[in-house]
Amino acid sequence: EPDDLYVDQAYDMVVVSNRLPVDYREAEDGSTEWRSSPGGLVTALEPIMRAADGAWVGWAGVADREFDPFERDGISIIPVPLSAAEIEDYYEGFSNDTLWPLYHDVIAPPSFHREWWEAYVRVNRRFAEAAARAAAEGAVVWVQDYQLQLVPKMLRESRPDLVIGFFNHIPFPAYGIYSQLPWRSQVIQGLLGADVIGFQRAADAGNFTRAVRRLHGYTTRGSVIEVPDEDGGVRHVVARHFPISIDAAGFEELARRPEVQERARQIREELGNPRTIMLGVDRLDYTKGIRHRLKAFGELLRDGRISVEDATLVQVASPSRERVETYRQLRDEIELTVGRLNGDHSTLGHQAIAYLHHGYPREEMVALYLAADVMLVTALRDGMNLVAKEYVACRFDGDGVLVLSEFTGASDELRQAVLVNPHDIEGLKDAMVEAVAMPKKERTRRMRALRKRVRDNDVANWSATFLKALTGSGAVAAGIPDT
Ligand code: G6P
Repeated sequence: EPDDLYVDQAYDMVVVSNRLPVDYREAEDGSTEWRSSPGGLVTALEPIMRAADGAWVGWAGVADREFDPFERDGISIIPVPLSAAEIEDYYEGFSNDTLWPLYHDVIAPPSFHREWWEAYVRVNRRFAEAAARAAAEGAVVWVQDYQLQLVPKMLRESRPDLVIGFFNHIPFPAYGIYSQLPWRSQVIQGLLGADVIGFQRAADAGNFTRAVRRLHGYTTRGSVIEVPDEDGGVRHVVARHFPISIDAAGFEELARRPEVQERARQIREELGNPRTIMLGVDRLDYTKGIRHRLKAFGELLRDGRISVEDATLVQVASPSRERVETYRQLRDEIELTVGRLNGDHSTLGHQAIAYLHHGYPREEMVALYLAADVMLVTALRDGMNLVAKEYVACRFDGDGVLVLSEFTGASDELRQAVLVNPHDIEGLKDAMVEAVAMPKKERTRRMRALRKRVRDNDVANWSATFLKALTGSGAVAAGIPDT
């Protein structure tokens, strides 16, 4: 364990992700603070990093600021600076307006711009250099997500001693879609710099290995890819699925706290004690299927299959990527729809939709999960969807119904949810009605099975499985057939 945060090559474990676990915030009055950053990634990796005394390399969430490394909650934080132009081109541009829509099956059209790609290469190099500087001889470096796909190869070139893992938190698309990317070969080569490349679903890993075969013709045997190296030999790279999860016990512990349960009762009361509370919790993103959910709910009200006296929909939409045009448009559309539906259906005493464009602390989220009879996860495409798992983890009472899109990674595991195709609005409406009317016995039976699954594969299990595959990767690559 390093005693000095500024020592180079001091860390045996380094995580590299676009966002640090903390964002730097500056308030209008000039006061500043480091706050927990959005997204599932942070939640997933924080416990491991604390245990490993590791270093975390990432961006502080603001433009044109350089920060010295510092320690927070037992993790060494190593900020990487981004200029305002790089935020536009690398983060908002290539990451979130090229790769994000492309990897989510072009739900929104991806934009391809050569200057964005150039910024992506430049910024990936900066992250790779910062990681190379922090990592001790032979260290494990674990690179996270689509923003940093070139880092594994860059790291391998400068530091062949390192053990390099990569985990893709979002889907990896089928070749017919992936092949649109003008830089498709460079991205594959970037990823193949890793020893182990992890995906959420078996289908994602399959899409990746197929792309490797189509573009480079390398031999693949199950999850093992044979990558030719400079001296005529081959290096074995493992590409397989490691479905991410949550700190299930931590969520349950919060849910069991009397004050959180009291807050759940208070939420129900404030909503006018409707018989059924339905809940949606998402970053405000076009992949989440919020429009489809609102459409289905609106039609159920219109058709009289549910009424505002009986049911309320609480929709938490946390602000996200607000400078990207597609996200601005989505916000306008959703807020227009919510306004219309409330205008058409709410009464003075009963609101149809309680719409909240905020992020909330975890305690409040847990209280909402406890207050919700029906949880609606209707994503059109989602790498995993941790909200589904959080809901299940909180329901120690064995009650509550999860309506879950087949297009989430979570649906591979959470088979006892009410599974839906969100594009099928009639099917979605029927599923919502089924969830509202589900007999207690069946709710309990399903929730018990879901809870077992989430407890058995929690985030500690996820990271341990990945790191085991990574540190044993030579042997794994030689021995493992398919998974
Ligand atoms: C998803 C991505 C993460 C990302 C998070 C929040 O979960 O997989 O890499 O950090 O969304 O998005 P943002 O763009 O605000 O970091």
